[in-house]
Amino acid sequence: MIRLDVTGLQETLQSQLNQIMAENTDVLTRAQKGEEKYADSLGWLNTEEWADGEKVSRIEEIAEKIRKTSDAFVLIGVGGSNNAARSVIEALRTPDAPEIIYAGNTLSANALNRMLKQLEGKDFFIDCIAKNFETLEPGSSFRLLRKALKERYGKDYASRVICTGTRGSRLDELCQEQGYEFIDFPLDIGGRFTAISNVGLLPMAVAGIDIRSVVQGAADMQKQLRSAPAESNDAYRYAALRNLYYRNGWKIEMLSSFEPQFRNFFYWWTQLFAESEGKDGKGIFPVTGEFTEQLHSIGQYIQDGENMIFETFLNVKEQQDSLVIEADEADDRFDYLNGKDFFDINKAAYEATLAAHAQKFPCNVIQIGRIDAYHFGQLFWFFQFACYVSCGIMGVDPFDQPGVEAYKVRMFNALGK
Ligand code: PA5
Repeated sequence: MIRLDVTGLQETLQSQLNQIMAENTDVLTRAQKGEEKYADSLGWLNTEEWADGEKVSRIEEIAEKIRKTSDAFVLIGVGGSNNAARSVIEALRTPDAPEIIYAGNTLSANALNRMLKQLEGKDFFIDCIAKNFETLEPGSSFRLLRKALKERYGKDYASRVICTGTRGSRLDELCQEQGYEFIDFPLDIGGRFTAISNVGLLPMAVAGIDIRSVVQGAADMQKQLRSAPAESNDAYRYAALRNLYYRNGWKIEMLSSFEPQFRNFFYWWTQLFAESEGKDGKGIFPVTGEFTEQLHSIGQYIQDGENMIFETFLNVKEQQDSLVIEADEADDRFDYLNGKDFFDINKAAYEATLAAHAQKFPCNVIQIGRIDAYHFGQLFWFFQFACYVSCGIMGVDPFDQPGVEAYKVRMFNALGK
């Protein structure tokens, strides 16, 4: 399970927090029920809707076919069509799984050429994941990869194309015209909330992740957070704390961890909060800290620079790996580490960092039992719900992203669309 702790909250802030929590209980109650005005975006609020037993079995079937016949699987998608699957795959993939290659997330000729090179001589499947199928990156990569498939398999290439799209979209029509396999991108979920659906789960299953555990983790978290009252609801407490810090001038949230396995999860979290909350001239700017490495770069600013950052640590409780440093005959002056396990050394670094940072600004700690498929499911649902509630307290619509369109209009004009 996961749990929220708070360190370094001054007494004056505690009373403000109590006030924010008391004033916004209706925001929580409305989110727990699901608001009518967001009906076209709340398909994730009930994990059963897009990840019931039947849908999960179908995903597993398709994944098994891909795993049996491929060395590689190309996930074509950007933003919400990529980040959730990639978070789990890069943290947990099994050695026997096909190589997972990412496309549709760049326009760089260099990166795309490297991606195509990686596929040379390999048997592969592609999955084009796109909600509206107008986004430039996945659309252009899909073309490149169809060509690569045709060159390798001739007219049989179509059996190696899967599209995760919305019913009635141009992608759906293409599947019917060309004979590609079509699976649903939920019509009532925006990209960044689609972890627990075909969008996130099929690539995870191809990579050998136990997707039933991911779904179970999310479902258990849903059950807890949709029923817990304000005072014992950790997502609500987290949302209220974020708003408290924001109102007191800490306008940047840093999500930090001492486990590099969370690197891609950081991308997912950053997108979730930036696109959901940053609008109408408001919003907490999300950044991430991959420690201990970045303690040697941004650590200086955090401790000593302008006081505008608050921090949320992801702390993993269970020891899942062990590596002990042995004595060495050379006098390298590291003998104080003799016999110590890296698990404990890393924990000492975490505890010291938390204590140092909490002297300057308040720190949240999200305690996580262990890093596995179940806890990724929990984290996805926890942050999605917390984000919905946090946006409610801040007074912004969590589910649109009007700001993303501004550059697209200029880019499409420049490209003659
Ligand atoms: O969360 C969102 O809605 C966006 O980030 C989308 O996921 C992203 O822009 C990709 O969109 P699409 O799947 O339509 O290509």
